[in-house]
Amino acid sequence: MNARSLVVVSAGLSQPSSTRLLADRLAAATLDRLSALDAPTTVEVIELRDLAHDITNNLLTGFAAPKLQAALDALSHADGLIAVTPIFTTSYSGLFKSFIDVIEPTALTDLPVLIAATGGTERHSLALDYAVRPLFTYLHTVVVPTAVYAASSDWGSGAAAGGAASGGGGLAARIGRASSELATLVAASDRSSRVLDPFALPAGFSPTGA
Ligand SMILES: Cc1cc2nc3c(=O)[nH]c(=O)nc-3n(C[C@H](O)[C@H](O)[C@H](O)COP(=O)(O)O)c2cc1C
Repeated sequence: MNARSLVVVSAGLSQPSSTRLLADRLAAATLDRLSALDAPTTVEVIELRDLAHDITNNLLTGFAAPKLQAALDALSHADGLIAVTPIFTTSYSGLFKSFIDVIEPTALTDLPVLIAATGGTERHSLALDYAVRPLFTYLHTVVVPTAVYAASSDWGSGAAAGGAASGGGGLAARIGRASSELATLVAASDRSSRVLDPFALPAGFSPTGA
């Protein structure tokens, strides 16, 4: 089997971005575990901030510019996805959702996904489970059980290091658990070696798709 393909989507707007920082920590931890599983893996990071204009144009015209199309193609062939959004008004950000809206609805079927988010307050961590998880379930992906939320208070505290001071349940511990879950699924995935037929019909010939 070829090297596995891990795609990381980060929807942070700030520069520097705590969302991107969390995405990088999750990617590094997942790669460590994939290496322990003897599963060579390539990583591609998609910064939605850089695609914001292309995403809006795609929503308006129905066509993806080359950079956006490359990102969409990478997702279609990925063995795993780390999806990280900032929480805006207790949900995923508008940019994150707009990107999801330009993905072909069946393109992510079977894709193992680790969902994560950053927020100003720890009180909004459940947004991952009431907003982000159902979105990926609808797209027929396989979302790992552990979702990772980092509030502002997680950064720079003992919790970010995940050491004894955090009681072992801090951000680093959550990152470790979630990345192990994702790595196991990525190592077993054959999505990147599947040959997709560009001329395949989305359904049968009948108007009902039967
Ligand atoms: C318009 C807006 C709405 C926000 N709403 C929330 C919110 O409901 N809950 C929360 O915890 N943080 C909220 N935040 C804070 C961001 O989630 C937080 O600053 C995030 O980590 C920023 O990510 P970035 O550094 O990658 O840009 C909001 C920020 C903005 C700009």
